[in-house]
Amino acid sequence: MGKATTVAVIGASGGVGRAVVRAALDNGLRVRALARSRTRTQETVGDLEKLDEFVEGNVDDPESLARLLEGSVDIVLSCLGTPKGAAPCVENGTRKIIDAMRAAGLQRMAMISSIGVGDSLPQGLAMAPFFARCIKPLFLKKLFADLDAAEEVCWRAAGMRCVCVRPPGLTNKRGTGIFRLAPSCELKPSKRASIPREDVAAAMIKFAKDDSAFLHWEGKGVTVVS
Ligand SMILES: NC(=O)c1ccc[n+]([C@@H]2O[C@H](COP(=O)([O-])OP(=O)(O)OC[C@H]3O[C@@H](n4cnc5c(N)ncnc54)[C@H](OP(=O)(O)O)[C@@H]3O)[C@@H](O)[C@H]2O)c1
Repeated sequence: MGKATTVAVIGASGGVGRAVVRAALDNGLRVRALARSRTRTQETVGDLEKLDEFVEGNVDDPESLARLLEGSVDIVLSCLGTPKGAAPCVENGTRKIIDAMRAAGLQRMAMISSIGVGDSLPQGLAMAPFFARCIKPLFLKKLFADLDAAEEVCWRAAGMRCVCVRPPGLTNKRGTGIFRLAPSCELKPSKRASIPREDVAAAMIKFAKDDSAFLHWEGKGVTVVS
């Protein structure tokens, strides 16, 4: 039997992050995870003993990232997001993650972005009035600019192989297990489109488990919809 794929999940205490950790374990993957709070992660993910490694740390701290990426990690799954009211952190965090990946000799990453980012702006606008109403306020504009910049960091990072996963609105509804991946330019999500975080997690796991899916989408932003 071949060696199980090892994923390094960043932002394991978050909504998508905890769903990714659970889905990875359910799929028999080996999981290393980083989050700022062990307690918060335990509350949401459950028993951290099931993980190969849990690192309580910050993406700003190269040592935490180095510890996360020790061992034979096959792919980094970044579920980093800006907490409510905090300064946007995804561009800076993505830079730090990529620096740490380089130092560890890793290349593959799938990261959570959003519909409306990069060349998916028209798709975001197709979701108006939700999108128009939501991106107008200054704070959300900053969040979208941060995600735009984070994707650019991925695209410009020489030697890195990245997929940026762009969901529409996220919900905590139970996952359906059914999702579609499509190039940003081809899919028009319906107004107020949304997707359960668990289904976004399933898409992230697909990139970890299915080499042909990763190869197909690497270097691109991919829209994920129910
Ligand atoms: N909400 C939507 O409808 C929507 C739609 C499309 C795309 N998105 C994107 O999806 C992302 C993920 O969504 P979500 O619901 O999972 O967000 P979330 O629950 O806020 O999770 C964000 C995660 O990032 C972690 N984090 C933030 N700064 C960090 C740092 N410096 N070091 C380490 N970890 C850090 C947070 O840790 P803590 O727990 O310690 O704060 C948390 O684990 C969003 O942020 C957004 O970019 C959201």
